[in-house]
Amino acid sequence: MRLDDKTVFITGAGGGIGSETARKCAEMGARVIVTDIDSAAAERTVESLDEAENDAVYHTLDVTNVDQFHDLVTATANEYGLDVLVNNAGIGHPSAKIEEIDEDVRDLVVSVNINGVWNGCHAALPIMKSQGYGSIVNVASLAGVIGLPSQAVYSLTKGAVINFTRAVAAESGPSGVRINAVCPGFIDAGIGKQFFETHDDPAAARKRMEAQYPLKRLGNPDEVAAAICFLASDEASYITGHDLIIDGGYSIS
Ligand code: NAI
Repeated sequence: MRLDDKTVFITGAGGGIGSETARKCAEMGARVIVTDIDSAAAERTVESLDEAENDAVYHTLDVTNVDQFHDLVTATANEYGLDVLVNNAGIGHPSAKIEEIDEDVRDLVVSVNINGVWNGCHAALPIMKSQGYGSIVNVASLAGVIGLPSQAVYSLTKGAVINFTRAVAAESGPSGVRINAVCPGFIDAGIGKQFFETHDDPAAARKRMEAQYPLKRLGNPDEVAAAICFLASDEASYITGHDLIIDGGYSIS
């Protein structure tokens, strides 16, 4: 499985799953465009890549800003080409019952997790369709497949990403463009890790969570990155509109 000569544009690549995806794509031969709302974090990701693989560049990008997204995707396509877009940027919210969640929290999570993915597809698809190839991977969540109590907004957004992926895949297939989603369970990074820190006893909360997984552990970000790279690559050339669950078996038990 290789991504030689491919340009891979990743959002939210300043940490967690996004930076691991940047690393794996670079290892597989891709030129990586590392973007994040936090430019210092994006720069750290690029600096952390192996020097031999490091023709990566970083840019500041707020995925909720449709004009900024369009401009950066277009500039990337003009300079390097555009083979792959990974819509990874996403945020969570503190666990709370729906009646306790303020509208501004709802709107922010919707804005990043739904509008951000929409904006990326809106920017990249006309380019990919006109060139007749391209692959998009949207980072959804297991929370978009099963109902997680106290995570209503997050579940709302990730469920939307999964069905949006199907709709846009059906629409773009005839133009040679594939779009898939990944649905990770709890991952030992980023917002997964932060979730435990909100508990009185984070270690105990983590142990309880691990016990619920048939593989008896949380996932690692590189295990999600591997799935993203597979779906992005030509190895997945007959897969589109798929939502790939990466959850150590949680949802089957
Ligand atoms: P993370 O917090 O480490 O990474 C998210 C990145 O997105 C951060 O670098 C942040 O600066 C960036 N970001 C936030 N708002 C942004 C915006 N408006 N524009 C551009 N960048 C923005 O979190 P993690 O865990 O790596 O999350 C990555 C994706 O994986 C998210 O979509 C998340 O919902 C999803 N996910 C994570 C799981 C986990 O357990 N860690 C499980 C399932 C899905």
